[in-house]
Amino acid sequence: MTNVIFQLKNKIIERHPMHRRFMESSLSRMSEVEKSRLSEYIIYCDAKGATLEKLAEAYLTVVFDTFNEQLFFQKHGRYRYSSFADVADKVYLNDTYMSNYMFGLALTTFLWPNHLAMFRFFEKCLPRDKKGSYLEIGPGHGYYLMTAMKLTLFENFLGIDISQTSIEQTREIIEYLSDDANKKCYELREEDFLSCSLKEEFYDAVVMGEVLEHVEQPERFLREIVRVSKANSFIYLTSCINAPAIDHIYLFGDLQQLEKMFEDSGLSVVRSLVCPHEGRTLREAIDKKLPVNVAYVLEKK
Ligand SMILES: C[S@@+](CC[C@H](N)C(=O)[O-])C[C@H]1O[C@@H](n2cnc3c(N)ncnc32)[C@H](O)[C@@H]1O
Repeated sequence: MTNVIFQLKNKIIERHPMHRRFMESSLSRMSEVEKSRLSEYIIYCDAKGATLEKLAEAYLTVVFDTFNEQLFFQKHGRYRYSSFADVADKVYLNDTYMSNYMFGLALTTFLWPNHLAMFRFFEKCLPRDKKGSYLEIGPGHGYYLMTAMKLTLFENFLGIDISQTSIEQTREIIEYLSDDANKKCYELREEDFLSCSLKEEFYDAVVMGEVLEHVEQPERFLREIVRVSKANSFIYLTSCINAPAIDHIYLFGDLQQLEKMFEDSGLSVVRSLVCPHEGRTLREAIDKKLPVNVAYVLEKK
């Protein structure tokens, strides 16, 4: 294990000794390539002022906040908040919280089994031969957008995020981790996706990771994705079922509800990845209202 990963693991365990087994099992699951990417990410964070100490704190903020929301959800059967206004000040407009949250969330991409599985699925499905324009809605920490720049032939990239902090982190990760060879033409806009009036049938790829459950009217997002994408666009989307988090405001209770929304919005499923809560079958997870993460490749009907 590279040194910085070992040090981060120790910092996390120092603060939260009960997380030791989870950390050890997560790290044992990662390939050498993934470990070297994680090291690279930790070094980038350090260069941006998120030292190992801060990164451990950022990661554990996500862990503890998610745990608290899970307790609330198990007790009340709903997410704590249901409108953007409920969470805007706490999360999106709170620079310190948002910055920690995005660094922490990027780490879960490596450390949480379902998030790692979804990232692997993204890498596997991302077309390597398509050209044209790539749109990402809600890039957050920017790791997916930066990866798409490295791995694909798309020429123009647009990232739209409602949070200024997310836009900054996306810009920083692109500038830091893409070398000149794969730094493409890109634009980042701090805007609500629903109010940015993008060109119709323009994008060859549309990616939206973990945004649908963060918005009041997910169907409007899906319809807008249909409007701006081309007939054969690569459309990649992740979301979750019964998976509380501090800023999840739209509850999907099962896969059928989500997939019906795709259908009703003009999208059909090409491929999907369903990741029930670790150690559970899908049936058990749904019956017990445990989290299920999902990733889809979609196409316009
Ligand atoms: C949970 S993060 C997801 C980050 C990353 N895509 C991933 O999959 O890990 C959600 C991101 O969506 C952004 N977001 C939420 N509502 C949005 C909206 N209406 N328009 C654009 N971005 C939005 C948030 O600011 C945040 O950066």
